[in-house]
Formats: sequence, structure tokens, C-alpha cells
Amino acid sequence: MNTNLMLDLHDLGKSFELHHQHDAHLHVLDGIRLQLHAGECVVLSGPSGAGKSTLLRVIYANYRPSRGSVRLRHDGRWLELASATPHEVLDARRRTLGYVSQFLRVIPRVPALDIVAEPLLQIGAEPAQARQRAGELLHRLNVPERLWQLPPGTFSGGEQQRVNIARGLIAPRPVLLLDEPTASLDAANRAVVAQLLAEARVAGSAVLGIFHDEDMRDRVATRLFPMQPLEPA
Ligand SMILES: Nc1ncnc2c1ncn2[C@@H]1O[C@H](COP(=O)(O)OP(=O)(O)O)[C@@H](O)[C@H]1O
Ligand SMILES: [Mg+2]
Repeated sequence: MNTNLMLDLHDLGKSFELHHQHDAHLHVLDGIRLQLHAGECVVLSGPSGAGKSTLLRVIYANYRPSRGSVRLRHDGRWLELASATPHEVLDARRRTLGYVSQFLRVIPRVPALDIVAEPLLQIGAEPAQARQRAGELLHRLNVPERLWQLPPGTFSGGEQQRVNIARGLIAPRPVLLLDEPTASLDAANRAVVAQLLAEARVAGSAVLGIFHDEDMRDRVATRLFPMQPLEPA
């Protein structure tokens, strides 16, 4: 086994059935081949509608692919996510595969600090240590300390996004999927996220992401993976 290879997509395709349109199909991904190695950051590029978010959701096993294979290196062996059981998917997400979207899923009444700390608790960290690490990340991401004990429901879009990034990066993950996690951030906080991603890569994570703005893309990408819409809008 090539110990550096973390994710191997082979002839991957995804079509959506459009039930309201006489069961027509929308072909979004076709023949995708992509290999992601530890320490690299591949950025999916291409116009809106090219299927970038769909590709990340297929890899995160939110969607089943229509064709092809999604092999993830998990626990030192290959896990085929296209046919994995729900239990295998949950285990892969807990320990190997991270996903950060644009939006924080707010849990009512749970303070920001605990939302950020939770992924560390799930892998068995001590609560005090997990909260301390959560505080360090929130501090680096310039989330004011007065907000840490409050549920993020009333936070600004940018504050929620920074809580979401802290939660997504707190537990070391061998493979990190990022869908425009910095869309509402100012330049200073984007720079912090770029630094956190660089640290994750040095620690051995493989990163696959979508970044709308060019300065972020240039800063984090080791390689681009260009995509185009298959069907006209
Ligand atoms: N669940 C779905 N059902 C039907 N069509 C979808 C679904 N998700 C995405 N699509 C379609 O797939 C295409 C690609 O979308 P998306 O992956 O979000 O593109 P991108 O992230 O590159 O902007 C779009 O035409 C979108 O409408
Ligand atoms: Mg998208």
C-alpha cells in the first residue's frame, strides 16, 4: 500500500433523478479520477454548478455515487465508501474524514465552546483538555471570549463560520473536506484559516477544498483540480 495515498477516486459518476420531471436524470459528475495524498491541499476549481459541492458530498458519503469508486484509507486499510455500511461511514467520519461546510449547524442551548470541543470528546479526550483546546482555537480565530459560553444561534455569519471551522479542525483528521468554509470571513481571519490548514498539512492531513476567492486559493492550494458543468444550465 502506498502509505501516502489517502483517497482514491476512480471513474466516479453521479446523476440525480429528477422525480418531478418525468424521472429525467441530471448528470453532474462523470469519469472523475482523483488521488489525494497526505500533506497536499487540492482545490476544486470551476464555475458554479460544476459539481464541486456534489463531489465533496459523495466523498463524505452524503450521496451514493451512481458509478465508480471512492476508496478511503481508514485504519490502515482501504474502505470503499461507495458500498460502505452506515456504521462504517460513521466510524470513518469520526476518525478519518472531516467535513466543514459554510454553515454551522446550531444546536439550541449548547455554548460555542462545547460545540467546538465535541469532536475531541467523541474520540475520547478529557473534557478539560478538549475545552482548553477549543478555547485556543476560538482565540486564534478571533472569536471574542465573551461569546464562548453562549449558543451561537445569535452570532453573526462570520462568527458562526469561525465556530464551525474551529469545530471542523479541532480533531486531527487524515482527510479534510472543505466547502467554502471561509466565504463570510474578512482577510485577517482568512489568513488565520490558511495558517491552520498549513498546520494540518504539516501534521499529515490531506485537504480537498473549495475556495471561492482567489487569494485564499493561491494561499492554500498545492494543486488545482478543474471541473466543468456537464450539462448546460
Ligand atoms: N440533491 C440534488 N438533487 C438534484 N440536483 C442537484 C442536487 N445537488 C446538486 N444538484 C445539481 O448539481 C449541479 C452541481 O451542483 P453543485 O455540486 O452544488 O455545484 P458547485 O458546488 O460546483 O456550484 C447543479 O446543477 C445542482 O443544481
Ligand atoms: Mg458548491
